Amino acid sequence: MKRERTQRENWGTRFGFLMAAAGSAIGLGNIWRFPYLTGEHGGSVFIIIYLFCIAFIGLSIMIAEFAVGRRTSLASVGAYKSQNRSWTFAGVLGVLSGFFIMGFYPVVGGWSLAYMLKSLTGLLANPGATADIFNAFVAAPVEPLIWTVIYLVLNVAIVARGISGGIEAASKVLMPTLFVLLIVIIVKGVTFPGAGEGLAYLFRPDWSQVTGNTLLAALGQSFFTLSLGMGCMITYGSYLRKEENIPANALSIVAMDTMGALMAGLAIFPALFAFGMEPAAGPGLVFVVVPAIFARMGSIGPIMSLVFFAALTVAALTSSISLLEVVVAYLIDERGMDRKRATYLSSIVIMGMCVLSSLSMGTLSGVKLFGVGFFDFFDILTDKIFLAVGGMLLTIFAGWFMKKEDLKDELTSGGAVEFGLFELWYNLVKYFIPVVIGVFAIVGIAAIEQKSLMFFGLFLIFVLGLFSKKL
Ligand code: PHE
Repeated sequence: MKRERTQRENWGTRFGFLMAAAGSAIGLGNIWRFPYLTGEHGGSVFIIIYLFCIAFIGLSIMIAEFAVGRRTSLASVGAYKSQNRSWTFAGVLGVLSGFFIMGFYPVVGGWSLAYMLKSLTGLLANPGATADIFNAFVAAPVEPLIWTVIYLVLNVAIVARGISGGIEAASKVLMPTLFVLLIVIIVKGVTFPGAGEGLAYLFRPDWSQVTGNTLLAALGQSFFTLSLGMGCMITYGSYLRKEENIPANALSIVAMDTMGALMAGLAIFPALFAFGMEPAAGPGLVFVVVPAIFARMGSIGPIMSLVFFAALTVAALTSSISLLEVVVAYLIDERGMDRKRATYLSSIVIMGMCVLSSLSMGTLSGVKLFGVGFFDFFDILTDKIFLAVGGMLLTIFAGWFMKKEDLKDELTSGGAVEFGLFELWYNLVKYFIPVVIGVFAIVGIAAIEQKSLMFFGLFLIFVLGLFSKKL
């Protein structure tokens, strides 16, 4: 169903749009994922490549996604379809990415929820015990599942009603709180003796650490953290008023998101080195290090920890509702379902995936798909393949299948705003980005352990492409 662009509802205010887009971008990707990837990939070299990807790829793709969304006034699948039916698959690929990310994201969201309560019930009693507590918690069969269900129910409640309302009010308070708390943690963290080593780890590159895998991880993370490559920002752009300056908005969102990630890194690594912990500890990093810092803050520790995990939970929620929304919008727009039905139906399947992901941390740790457990399966499939390919397809679509004048018109709001770097942006999108993603993908796949999973992912995309016109 095609809607007239004049009927499309718009964001109430510029601030509302910025909050929604920044809310989608800033989430577990910044606070949970960025630090542990940095730790697994050698510290500062990873950060440098990540920043390169953000500046030269992510920002341009975000601008392109907003432009495509606003030009077509349609959510992602419709946006592609309306221009060229052979491209429908690129939109559907995005929906699948959203769906699969929801196969593990709520599990981590559930951990964060659980940690709110744990902050008050003994988590901080012994600063040396946080790693054991985390490992025992996630490997348990039932407890993390309960929290995942609660987290998912919160998502469903928000999305079934249509976004806005409570979540906006909560995020207006808790997102700034998150930033303030990060500053508090950073200040505390760098005062521990031995913290300097952590700073060196973040800022002194050791280039011998770089492999194809590092490139792919940094590229994937830049998409994940900015919510790109899956149609989320296309959808958000479709609600954007014509007068709004797309490049300026994209720049602020990218800047906020990057600041969030770097602050999380600064909050964690100095303390981590001071405590003699292992940087490559994996997905438990924030849940181990941050409580260990709060545990050293005396009687205000538990309450600070509670507020931190509350803020993290809300940051996660504003991201996962945007993920769920992409899936739900597809079912509504393209499959003719009503909102409630679409939300409930997709959430039931998502719940099934989350159960598998959560159990793969313990009970089902022996069950492998393409050599990895369920959690890693959903994570690697989306973050290392689908998002990057989705981003590449979007740039090819914008660069080669849309009219340059149309894009220019969109990005200058019909001449009302300046975009002096239009030519640079256009060339990045048309030539540079598809080539760089292609090169990173080839080098990355050559280096990565999970080759069969990578080929499975690419095969899935190929099959989607074959049936594009039927989707
Ligand atoms: N950007 C979100 C985060 O950093 C995750 C996300 C990815 C949200 C893709 C929407 C789309 O947590």
